Amino acid sequence: MSENRLGRREVLGATGVAACGLALAACGGGGGAQAQPSLKGKVLAKTADVPVGGGKLIEDMKVVVTQPTQGVYKAFSALCTHKGCEVGTPKENVIPCHCHGSEFAADSGQATKGPATAPLPSFKVKVEGDGIVVV
Ligand code: FES
Repeated sequence: MSENRLGRREVLGATGVAACGLALAACGGGGGAQAQPSLKGKVLAKTADVPVGGGKLIEDMKVVVTQPTQGVYKAFSALCTHKGCEVGTPKENVIPCHCHGSEFAADSGQATKGPATAPLPSFKVKVEGDGIVVV
């Protein structure tokens, strides 16, 4: 009689297919015209990193955060509504897309210069401590 106890364990729990919850725009398929629910509760940036009149591009979340006026923070999808390029860092209350020259208003996301005509989808945010959080 052998004393070998192999303690066989099968690790089958790797549900590697659940990537959609993390990758923001990856699972939506075309358009991306609405806020991804997976961003809710996420801290997008620190308030100190978002200058008045400017903004911060959060590349891994595909989000751009702006501060059009002192203490007012806005967040938008960073994917241009023209052909889906990532927009550039906002300056002087303009969110530029360098692919074809579109511009978006930093306070509303509205396209102010073509070829894009549709606004950048926006996210509702609030300040919590020193962070800008999606609500
Ligand atoms: S993709 Fe932004 S202007 Fe064309």
